[in-house]
Amino acid sequence: MWLLLKGGRIIDPSQNIDKVGDLLIVDGRIAWNQEVPQNQEGQTINCAGLVVAPGLIDMHVHMREPGYEHKETIATAAKAAAAGGFTTIVGMPNTKPAIDNRAVVDYVLCEGRRADVHVHTTGAATKGNEGIEMAEIGDMIEAGAVAISDDAYPVQNADLMRRVMEYSRMFDVAVLAHCEDTSLTRDAVMNEGLNSTILGLRPWPRQAEAIMVMRNILLSELTGCRLHIQHISAAESIAAVRWAKSKGIPVTGETGPQYFSLTDDALCNYDTNAKVNPPLRTQADIEAIKEGLADGTIDAIATDHAPHSLEDKQVEMQYAAFGIVGLETAVPLVITNLVKPGALSINDAIARMTIEPAKILGIEAGSLADGAVADVTIIDLDASVVVRSGEFKSMGRNTPFEGAQLTGKAVKTIVSGQLVSPAQ
Ligand code: DOR
Repeated sequence: MWLLLKGGRIIDPSQNIDKVGDLLIVDGRIAWNQEVPQNQEGQTINCAGLVVAPGLIDMHVHMREPGYEHKETIATAAKAAAAGGFTTIVGMPNTKPAIDNRAVVDYVLCEGRRADVHVHTTGAATKGNEGIEMAEIGDMIEAGAVAISDDAYPVQNADLMRRVMEYSRMFDVAVLAHCEDTSLTRDAVMNEGLNSTILGLRPWPRQAEAIMVMRNILLSELTGCRLHIQHISAAESIAAVRWAKSKGIPVTGETGPQYFSLTDDALCNYDTNAKVNPPLRTQADIEAIKEGLADGTIDAIATDHAPHSLEDKQVEMQYAAFGIVGLETAVPLVITNLVKPGALSINDAIARMTIEPAKILGIEAGSLADGAVADVTIIDLDASVVVRSGEFKSMGRNTPFEGAQLTGKAVKTIVSGQLVSPAQ
């Protein structure tokens, strides 16, 4: 089987490629140095006017399985990923049971092999995500977990986090850290500022994030463990990561589309779909995030795709679950809010969604190198998109972008040489 992607603008930051040309896939692998095989069946896709990029990687996805299959399953998360242009997704461990031992890692990876895209998982930092006892880190890594994370349940005890980092370092995996000092966020709902005062909603100070970012950076310096700061929302956190990088501390960071697309104004109509952890911040934070993305302080864009059921969200703000679905809106938001206004080049945007997350995770993906597994995303930078959650492949409908008119989308997603979206 061959697939010829003809006449597109091929952008592969891993190889510094940005040129118009043809990309050939033979038997599921990139084949730069071959001719179209005459003796095999194949297909040509006209990519004129489109960007041909390495398959996008989302390193922060809540697949919800096992335990919360009423919100999402591994299969539906993968379908949403394919629809959004992602060929690889990495699941977070706040499931039920938690992904805190080899058996659950095995289960997720086994289900993942049947899914439409490549599925990886993280392992929990602590047993049951309780923040009390370290999880079976070595076992989970051996079973195939690509990183350790405390997402949604940030480890508060510094000594325990130190042990998690020391242990993870032995296996050379990154610790993906959700940075939140929960003593500052009890019952908090939204960013602390004028809007929280006017709305009368419990405030969440930016310092709750930045304090923990700094603690974790210092623990990374102490232990030598690779630390990756998840879903950065606040300017102070970016300054801390920039400082850490300048010191040579092995720290990377990610942000999500919601954090450079919306401010806490999105909560002014009490839309619970805009309730997310960490919370939406201010225009000054958006500017700092754009700067951090452009200068490489923020290495990756990841969605924190967090599907919830209607029952979880159609309640008073105080009781609503935190989270926004992201897989099917990420590419349009990146193009509309970063690339089109000139805040980030399309090349850097692709790097932050391909080779950079691949490097952080140490996985073989995110490149169109000769012989690589043919994961490819074809992007139309000028397509008009209206966000309609009813059309999502995800089971989650919780988006604050409903009805938004955006520009740019992933029009085709190819996984291991197979077209997975649109479905054939
Ligand atoms: O908004 C969020 N939702 N942030 C998290 O850290 C967890 C996530 C979830 O699991 O719903």
